[in-house]
Amino acid sequence: MLTRPEIAPAEPEIADLLAARPALSMHAQDGLCFEDVPLNAIADAHGTPVWVYGAGTIRARYAALQAAFRHAGIAPHIHYAVKANDHLAILSLLRQAGAGADVVSLGELARAAKAGIAAADIVFSGVGKTRADLTAALQAGIGQINVESAAELAMLSGIATGLGVTARIVLRMNPDVDAGTHAKITTGLAENKFGIAAADIIPLYAHAAALPGIEPQGIALHIGSQILSPAPYAAAYAKAAAMVRALRAAGHTVSVLDLGGGLGIGYRDEPGLSLSAFAEVVRREAGDLGVRLLLEPGRYLVGPAGLLLASVVLQKQAGEKRFLVLDAAMNDLLRPALYDSYHGMLPVSPVDFLQPASPADVVGPVCETGDIFAAGRPLPELGEGARLALLDAGAYGAVMSSPYNARRRAAAVLLDGGRFHLITPRQRLEDLWADEMLPDLVK
Ligand code: LLP
Repeated sequence: MLTRPEIAPAEPEIADLLAARPALSMHAQDGLCFEDVPLNAIADAHGTPVWVYGAGTIRARYAALQAAFRHAGIAPHIHYAVKANDHLAILSLLRQAGAGADVVSLGELARAAKAGIAAADIVFSGVGKTRADLTAALQAGIGQINVESAAELAMLSGIATGLGVTARIVLRMNPDVDAGTHAKITTGLAENKFGIAAADIIPLYAHAAALPGIEPQGIALHIGSQILSPAPYAAAYAKAAAMVRALRAAGHTVSVLDLGGGLGIGYRDEPGLSLSAFAEVVRREAGDLGVRLLLEPGRYLVGPAGLLLASVVLQKQAGEKRFLVLDAAMNDLLRPALYDSYHGMLPVSPVDFLQPASPADVVGPVCETGDIFAAGRPLPELGEGARLALLDAGAYGAVMSSPYNARRRAAAVLLDGGRFHLITPRQRLEDLWADEMLPDLVK
């Protein structure tokens, strides 16, 4: 649903959802399989709800991105946006594929380092990095800090000088371009909190060059997430290229252009952003700048590589309305409640898959009306224990989950070569309060 309501595409049939996802297949015996692993086997072994990630899909998407750039004759370095899915296994897989990381907190920095990503291959973004964040990043030897304000620049200069190091920075420019995506994940409009207005970049770059402990290397931009058209990228990158040229004309050295992330995926049965069109835009706007290009994709790499496998608790009829109550809820997958976002749903049983579909509201058990995954979704009758896969949940899924309603964190498995590996056990009940302390007054 991350498209605007007025251009919301038609509701796909479940057969269309399956046809659009080659890593998923339906078998007469085994039911729904992901990367050739029967989802029933995973649920039997580890219960539901369970996140299922496909290593083969992540590797294939990484390779497709690289191939599109190779074809366009450019080679941006890929810094995976850790926020999309910060599991150590996923980070390690992307490190093996050759990715660096884009982090936005001390926790993400520590996770990336723990997964073996070299500090020099990590860039640090974010509008509110604290003194502690910046100190730790510099001490770790971070490759690049994306500075978003004059105040942050002053703070960073002081910290770097105190540590006796030089901070390699880029200035994040706000290009004032509409990414054409959901308002809550648009970042490149002048009214958004992100980045520095284009008019302020040149004086601030000059100021940065004169500050102790700071080495300005270039500029960064990131205009939003789930972008499906190359047009806003073309507009933003043209402005970035013009800025690089203007900085050079003013006598500055510019060696880095960080292009941000935001590459959108098809949540229904539509294609995602065309990689070849995107790579062509990058080549056209930035290919001859003679800079090191960086890209910060998150969702594109991991979104379609994950699903949330849930079970039906019960089906409930309320007048005309049919509710399917799942054992997964908004605390697991928040996106539909937060952005009205669409996630495809497929029954796991081959028998269920072939039954006629009729509209149902698919909801979780949390005590909020907003705990709804889909309204009026065409699905077959599904009884207690029937399993349902919520698709394209590999990005901004588990990372945005919470223990609301004292619901335990779901388990997670990683598929590879036709086998599944447990990477997060289901949280135990006693873990829910493991960090809580009782002062004497309540004993
Ligand atoms: N770089 C920066 C500076 C970012 O802020 C983001 C995402 C990315 C890269 C990666 O964007 P991606 O390639 O994944 O689109 N929770 C929302 C998405 C929030 C994105 C925030 N920033 C959702 O569930 O749709």
